[in-house]
Amino acid sequence: MSSYVFLIEAAEVPPGRAAPVRVGDRWFAVCNDGGHFHVVDHDCPHEGGSLAGGEVRDGCVICPVHAWPFDLQTGLTDERMPWMRLRRYPCELRDGRVFADVTAPLRT
Ligand code: FES
Repeated sequence: MSSYVFLIEAAEVPPGRAAPVRVGDRWFAVCNDGGHFHVVDHDCPHEGGSLAGGEVRDGCVICPVHAWPFDLQTGLTDERMPWMRLRRYPCELRDGRVFADVTAPLRT
């Protein structure tokens, strides 16, 4: 059973940007890729950079620390490094508000 929770008003995340959201004791990054919203772990799987501070473009969130792009559809930064995968979560836009099920990471 899914358990979607409200994360943030969509208007608070402009296209091309990401925003940090806390749910319980965990942090996530809500990414706006040209009006398409994605929810991923806040911490970069490389060395923990804040993905909420990254640019979002061309289907990727760009980590601000080393500028690695993470594909928002697969979580990968490089197909040769399948272990370096960013966790993604199912999300929905409802009446201008972003909801996600942060208990069930997507499997690619
Ligand atoms: S910490 Fe994110 S790419 Fe290195």
